[in-house]
Amino acid sequence: MSDLNQKIQDALANPKNLGEMADADSIGTAGSEGCGDMLRMWVRFKQDASGRKVIDRATFQTFGCETAIAVASVATELVAGKTIEEALHLSSSDLASPLGALPPMKIHCAQLVETALRSALDPKSATVSDSPVPVASVAASTASSPSLRDSFTPQNDSGQKVRIILKTPASV
Ligand code: FES
Repeated sequence: MSDLNQKIQDALANPKNLGEMADADSIGTAGSEGCGDMLRMWVRFKQDASGRKVIDRATFQTFGCETAIAVASVATELVAGKTIEEALHLSSSDLASPLGALPPMKIHCAQLVETALRSALDPKSATVSDSPVPVASVAASTASSPSLRDSFTPQNDSGQKVRIILKTPASV
């Protein structure tokens, strides 16, 4: 197993900051038109000792592949304690850097994480590539923070039920 695969498997075995955050200050969601995967990130801020507004905690949920889960896990740890400006300077490769360099076909997985994070921090800067697109960005104070699953409407425009198939770790 390659070093990258080992690190991804390690992150999957013990993903950090997984799940919605009830007291988040901001939420960003991104979807990949290429693979259909989605990722939502919740962010809570705090003031640090020098009075700067910094990221206290970030969490995520995703209908995404193993790489997206692993990148989101390490990225949420990486951004803790950073200001919004500092976090916005991080590229997808920066966010994935604890795992190592991703192969070209997996770069969009890290861009999905970057787009969701940017969508939460600054919706205007959320478009980072042609592939992952920001789906929604809401201030948590003005909206409930539904889980990613809850945010899908149970019916489509014609009133038919929409079937959602959730990926399990064994099927990604
Ligand atoms: Fe879609 Fe990884 S294959 S996010």
